[in-house]
Amino acid sequence: MNNRITISDLFKNKQNSKIVMLTCYTAPIAKILDNHVDILLVGDSLGMTVYGHNNTLAVTKRMMIDHGKCVVDNSKKALVVVDLPFGSYETDKIKAFDTAAEIISKTNATAVKLEGGKEMAGTVDFIVSRGIPVMGHIGLMPQKINLKGKFLSVGKNKIEEDKILNDAKSLTEAGAFSYVLEAMKSELAKKITQSFETISLGIGAGQHCNGQILVIDDLLGLYNNFTPKFVKKYSNLEKIIDKAVEQFSKDVKNKKFPTKRYSY
Ligand code: KIV
Repeated sequence: MNNRITISDLFKNKQNSKIVMLTCYTAPIAKILDNHVDILLVGDSLGMTVYGHNNTLAVTKRMMIDHGKCVVDNSKKALVVVDLPFGSYETDKIKAFDTAAEIISKTNATAVKLEGGKEMAGTVDFIVSRGIPVMGHIGLMPQKINLKGKFLSVGKNKIEEDKILNDAKSLTEAGAFSYVLEAMKSELAKKITQSFETISLGIGAGQHCNGQILVIDDLLGLYNNFTPKFVKKYSNLEKIIDKAVEQFSKDVKNKKFPTKRYSY
């Protein structure tokens, strides 16, 4: 039986309680996060956090399917959303639907996420009207990194703000059930959240969104290549793992491990 949180549940609860969302890519982490979050996002940030690339552009559909299936298979409660990778959906809506359908059918996730605002509205409408829920992603869009060369916050002047507001409106009209609002002023995210029914999920977008997402490796202190202003580190797993492995290495070299207790 499927006891997962549904999109209707999210809409029912969004006035009463903030929606909690984290990225997730692997089985052991899925099992832990599932107890604490409403949405697990198999984000294409895995290109950076898991595969060590310096952006998300080399992530493939195969990777998203493998990690997406693993997260679905190892969680019970959270609604699972899988990112459409760069190059797999932008050129036309039929290609986009085919990619989304393959990802959904092979992972059993509930929804897909894609980056883009007004320019993707026709595609979002096409996918949603054929039965696949879509989460949008506007503001800072990591797949467009090469246009600026850096991950920069957005909405810094009236023209940019109006564009982002218009992107939110277009995605709402196209039927996206939610959108990620990334790296923008909290007042702009507040205006978007108050103006449209679509569920807003902020990352670096202040405290007025319907929910909050962080990249799990940032939160755990496991990805330290760079740390955006909006990241709060709740742990320092890099240090903890380093210490544990350093001790293991010393023990092996000093013949302190394995002892009798760990031997047959
Ligand atoms: O890929 C990802 O992890 C994301 C989040 C930053 C929202 O899109």
